[in-house]
Amino acid sequence: MKKITIAIDGFSSTGKSTLAKQLAKHLGYIYVDTGAMYRAVTYYAMQNNFINHNGFDKEALIKDLSKITLTFQFNINLGYGEMYLNGMNVENEIRTIEVSSFVSKVAEISQVRAKLVEQQQEMGKNKGIVMDGRDIGTVVFPDAELKIFMTASAQTRAERRYNEMLSKGDNVSFEEVLKNVQERDYIDTHREDSPLVMADDAIEIDNSHLSREEQFQVVLDLFNNI
Ligand code: DC
Repeated sequence: MKKITIAIDGFSSTGKSTLAKQLAKHLGYIYVDTGAMYRAVTYYAMQNNFINHNGFDKEALIKDLSKITLTFQFNINLGYGEMYLNGMNVENEIRTIEVSSFVSKVAEISQVRAKLVEQQQEMGKNKGIVMDGRDIGTVVFPDAELKIFMTASAQTRAERRYNEMLSKGDNVSFEEVLKNVQERDYIDTHREDSPLVMADDAIEIDNSHLSREEQFQVVLDLFNNI
């Protein structure tokens, strides 16, 4: 069986993780959600009151980075690894709108990025991995054999995330979700360290009008042609 590195980057809520999980399951590859790692660091910063609506003590977070241990523990029922922060399962805690509203600020910090990128490269050193994020094809695995860059309109993405949050019982408004998507797009593409850009050798997929199955088939064909 072909063992390569698959990098999936793109804007928030473009369905990167859905596609990455489908691919990993189909190919028997490891799946790594790097956004979950940035979210877990953000959750740590919130818990320790380093970040809140009044401000962000970046230095305090940087000083504490060595105290943060992130691991993925495979959940056989889900078929992928869940995010653990210092031994605690934080899968639910890291998906709230509060974490979403702070995470781009945490992801701007170079020391945070360096720590997470190093861990991501270690996880992928034996290939056979599907990793999704913002800088996988550009920074983490510039030599990945297959690079996908996913896009869709902000309206479409906000609708998807809003429906997902409603189904989980979250009490949010559509306007709040759309604003969050637009703000993160801006910060993710404008930060100094590893901004979200499409790698020169990535293949762009706009899935505004593609079903999950159609999109999966497109990428599987690309995989088979390598
Ligand atoms: O994919 P996500 O929405 O869970 O990612 C959360 C945030 O983390 C996103 O707004 C930007 C940041 N991120 C990043 O900077 N680099 C990555 N490789 C993954 C995520």
